[in-house]
Amino acid sequence: MLKGLSRTISGAAIAGVLLSSAVALAAADTGKEPGRALAAKIGVPWPAVIAHRGASFNAPEETVPSYTLARELGADYLEMDIQRTKDGVLIALHDNTLERTTNIAEVYPQRAKDPLNTFTLEEIKRLDAGSWFNKAYPDRARATYAGLKILTLDEVIDIAERGKNKPGLYIETKVPAQFPGIEEDLKKKLDQRGWLTQRPAAEKGYVNVAHMPGRVVLQTFEKPSLELLQKSMPDTPKVLLLWLGDGSIETASGKTFKDSGAKDKASFYASQQVKSKEEFAAWMDWAKAHGAVGTGPSAALKNGGDQSYSDLVQPWMNKMAHDRGMIVHPYTVDDAVDFKAISEQGVDGFFTNRASELLKFYGRPSKESMDSILKRSGF
Ligand code: G3P
Ligand code: CA
Repeated sequence: MLKGLSRTISGAAIAGVLLSSAVALAAADTGKEPGRALAAKIGVPWPAVIAHRGASFNAPEETVPSYTLARELGADYLEMDIQRTKDGVLIALHDNTLERTTNIAEVYPQRAKDPLNTFTLEEIKRLDAGSWFNKAYPDRARATYAGLKILTLDEVIDIAERGKNKPGLYIETKVPAQFPGIEEDLKKKLDQRGWLTQRPAAEKGYVNVAHMPGRVVLQTFEKPSLELLQKSMPDTPKVLLLWLGDGSIETASGKTFKDSGAKDKASFYASQQVKSKEEFAAWMDWAKAHGAVGTGPSAALKNGGDQSYSDLVQPWMNKMAHDRGMIVHPYTVDDAVDFKAISEQGVDGFFTNRASELLKFYGRPSKESMDSILKRSGF
């Protein structure tokens, strides 16, 4: 299924410390922190700041500045979507085509809609993966973003390893049915780079996730891929991403957005409910039985937008995960109002395009500004 491909990122406190303290207190009062102990047992940070495609609100997704910024801000994880080129190289790219995030229409006009796996790495490296961002988000544009390249997994790992902060890698197998054997390729690469065994500790005071057992978290929407990941890397934490409808978790309505006639996706998704508690429990049981240590559910956001999906982070849902020993990392949440509301439902971190904002919310803001980090990193 291509569930992940229908989602694209969209744009967007001083009260961060207060908010996070309030959330922590409320959670402690009501015994809503089972995820903290589970995370400690699994060896992942709690609560987790997962930089979704890097710091992708502020720099072109899955590029050098996006991942460098996330690392320097202090994110726990660099999140990426892994696919494979025609000549067998693992690269970090969300969409299955190159249209949205590169200038392919200019470079290979006849092939603009072709899937990624019909291009060699050398062909892909000719594309500009930064200028689209400057056009789409002029208020966040930087001249230095023009001409950025799509990264190989090796290059993302280089970024993770290069700074004083040592973030972990949160890796999704994207459209895995299109890349037979990608789970084993991933294992070989992670093994070769020394990420499947313990890594050195960071200096005191720096992000140290790469030293923890959960230095790599593997994630997928696809059950067959989870099974293959479990077979290849049984000791590496895995997360099953959750989606309501379209062949995944069954909805009560049985409707899809396409045939619903609805105009606004966010409103449609928010109106959809899980068919039954038993249906949700069956997914939790399947995930647990197939090696998942956590789930990655969608969330409905207060202000809607194209990242707002069905609400799969209701307290009873999070409890079902926790009761089975699994943590909960919802996607993709960028605003303080949602960090607060969803945290109170009992989740264990977030995928976010705005690592800077989530770090503020959790009371550990970056001391350095994003502008300063980008400038000293050459951007
Ligand atoms: O991997 C979690 C989240 O990234 C899933 O959505 O489509 O952005 O990969 P997507
Ligand atoms: Ca992803």
